[in-house]
Amino acid sequence: MFRSDNITGAHPKVIEAIVAANAGTAPAYASDELTKRVEKKVADLFECDCAVALVTTGSAANAIALSLLTPPYGGVLCHEHSHVYTDECGGPELFTGGAKLLPVGGAHAKLDPAELEKSIAVSSLRGVHNVKPSAISITNVSELGAVYRRDEVERIAELARAKAMNLFMDGARLANAAAAGNYSLADITWRAGVHAVSFGATKNGAIAAEAIVVFDKSRAEELAYRRKRAGQLWSKHRFLAAQFDAYVSDDLWLSNARNANRMARRLADGLANVPGVRLDHPVDANEVFATLPEKALTGLSGEGIGLMRRDGPGTQLVRLVTAFNTTEAEVDHLIARVRVHAGP
Ligand SMILES: Cc1ncc(COP(=O)(O)O)c(C=O)c1O
Repeated sequence: MFRSDNITGAHPKVIEAIVAANAGTAPAYASDELTKRVEKKVADLFECDCAVALVTTGSAANAIALSLLTPPYGGVLCHEHSHVYTDECGGPELFTGGAKLLPVGGAHAKLDPAELEKSIAVSSLRGVHNVKPSAISITNVSELGAVYRRDEVERIAELARAKAMNLFMDGARLANAAAAGNYSLADITWRAGVHAVSFGATKNGAIAAEAIVVFDKSRAEELAYRRKRAGQLWSKHRFLAAQFDAYVSDDLWLSNARNANRMARRLADGLANVPGVRLDHPVDANEVFATLPEKALTGLSGEGIGLMRRDGPGTQLVRLVTAFNTTEAEVDHLIARVRVHAGP
């Protein structure tokens, strides 16, 4: 509980959709009717005529999308704490054919525009001796729980445009970002200047499903080839489509994200009132980063509540993540146990 939004099960509607898709036979490799319908539904949700490809992991979505946005000799500017930089085992470098990820700083794992501008300038000082700054990657919700507001995305998009670079958004938790800011998916992505996004479902109620959305539809064929080459074109693709069908129907993506965000807010408010506990980052969506006294962490662990120490053993900053099915009772129980163990 609270270690990640990956440890939860799937939403019952996703399971029901998979069961329904199990009946009969269907053409393979994304040529079935359900897949076509779902791709259209995702495009409609983004209010645009765009290219959509479903894959099974966020890492694959990021790597494939980035491979469309940068040449092999390109540089991808990203936050030093970004998932693409720290957690994907060089996948983006591999899939782009060798593009270089260039880390940039900024509070709460959001790119600082001034630092970004400087890094773009510095990283291209030596012309062909450098990689060519080609893309910027931002994560919304950021890896430290902060949401990029629309104007912040626009500011970075402006920098990208000025240098003829592409802007990618890692949206493993895009639903939570949209819910947090009350943004439509279009407003927080292409209308703000984003060229491609991964729209995550796995963490928010699916089993394994992410959509790569590329806003320039003329890239659809290239996207299809790159997905296949990455081993991400499922033969029984209808089961992937079924997950997304449930996810984008009746605003399930949004209601799931709203619950997760609400529970994180409740958790943060409760923890903020426990003496000795410090909140370290804004709680914009469904993640809470808090420093707990060591005795609280040890006490919790002793009763089987193992929290994730973000910076490794011996450190006290924990990442607490709420999910689509987190309940108030679960949140209140954790707050109460922290209070007990943090007390004198
Ligand atoms: C911000 C972010 N991007 C991408 C991913 C990648 O997802 P996956 O583990 O499905 O490859 C994660 C997963 O934790 C993530 O937190």
